[in-house]
Amino acid sequence: MNDKINQGKLFDEQLSEEIKELFYHVDEDPILNKRRIFFDNAGGSLRLKKANDMFKKMDELPDCPEHSNYTAKWLLEVQEKASEDIRTIFNAKSGSIVTSLTASMAIFEMNRAIIENVPGSNVVTTALEHPSAYDSVVSYAGKMGKEVRVAKTNPVTGGVDVEEITKLVDKDTCLLSFIYASNISGAVLDVESIIRECRKIKPDLYIVIDSVQHTPHGVLDLEKTPVDGINFAPYKFFGTRGFGVGFMSERAAKLQHNKLIAKSVDEWELGSPVPSQFASISEIVNYVCWIGSKFINSNDRRELYVEGMNRINLHERALMYRMLNGSDKAEGLRNIKGVKVYLDYEDLSTRDFIMAVGFDNIGSIEAVAEYEKRGVIAFERVASSLYSSRMLNSFDIEGVVRVSPLHCHDVNDIDEFLKITKEISLLK
Ligand SMILES: Cc1ncc(COP(=O)(O)O)c(C=O)c1O
Repeated sequence: MNDKINQGKLFDEQLSEEIKELFYHVDEDPILNKRRIFFDNAGGSLRLKKANDMFKKMDELPDCPEHSNYTAKWLLEVQEKASEDIRTIFNAKSGSIVTSLTASMAIFEMNRAIIENVPGSNVVTTALEHPSAYDSVVSYAGKMGKEVRVAKTNPVTGGVDVEEITKLVDKDTCLLSFIYASNISGAVLDVESIIRECRKIKPDLYIVIDSVQHTPHGVLDLEKTPVDGINFAPYKFFGTRGFGVGFMSERAAKLQHNKLIAKSVDEWELGSPVPSQFASISEIVNYVCWIGSKFINSNDRRELYVEGMNRINLHERALMYRMLNGSDKAEGLRNIKGVKVYLDYEDLSTRDFIMAVGFDNIGSIEAVAEYEKRGVIAFERVASSLYSSRMLNSFDIEGVVRVSPLHCHDVNDIDEFLKITKEISLLK
């Protein structure tokens, strides 16, 4: 593995400090009034101030965006501009936006529409899925009498190999539903190859991707990786809770789904619009473009967004490298005696910043409590939880401490975390 690629690239110190300032509560718990390092961003990310402030500002307005007064019309314009920003995130030129209260609800509806309406006697998914994708496949395939085929995980990469998926797909596959990046191992699947190889088997195969964990860490590109459904959760992407965003291709959007009869066949919005949630997403896109503008000159929003996400990815990779290998300031996770990194894979360009850590001296639930005592918030993913059992069992792992920082962290946060990890490893 090329170590230069593996090492990523940190933001310079000034940009790092500026970025930290743009997020709420990076360094403190405002309830306990105590310093803390929040490394549970996979469960809900640190909030971009402007995204939250914009949500509040817009939501103060009672005006109905579908009515005719000036401010109502203005709200609708804000929402329409934000819809373009959602397309910028996905690089989607056609198709329909799907919104819901959660990303789970969005993927249930997208998978339902396909499984219930597209011919084919089997549905393919993977053992690495979040229950929202997996259970929607099992539920609707069961209802329609379709076979469910589940691709195996790879315990070395922490992901799912392309061939494990292609060998399950055939001409009778109605839908392939798979995860972009694992919320347990951080492994990013080879989405481009999976789509290409599966469509060699069935050119018009319907494909849905759960990109909830990948969206905050990397670029999505439906032009390069055309799929029929994809989603993200704004609350894991620097934004607000209470909103799930999805996207459906033109052909998938027309499949039978819940809608008002008089609306067009590809309309997936149901009920009153929520301009505040949309406006908040525009602030996220503004922010990522702002990072991009620090590195390139462009007036093209997508170009700036891609550059910003790539820079976020490189900074996180550099932090990941330091967390694993350490520095002269602190030993890395790979070197601390009594600490194990599960599903640790050499090529960091295939990882999002989510790590599964274990201790020889204590279990993962206890370790999370010890971290909290020392001001670090992480989360246990254990085989007894419905949210992680299938994935962990597939790797034969009982439980891990999931550590998930964000790009607004810096090397000092990583070093402090490593020192605390060493301290925990020495507990009797
Ligand atoms: C990979 C993945 N998909 C889907 C979801 C569900 O998101 P939501 O909580 O918005 O339903 C999560 C939440 O943790 C997730 O990690």
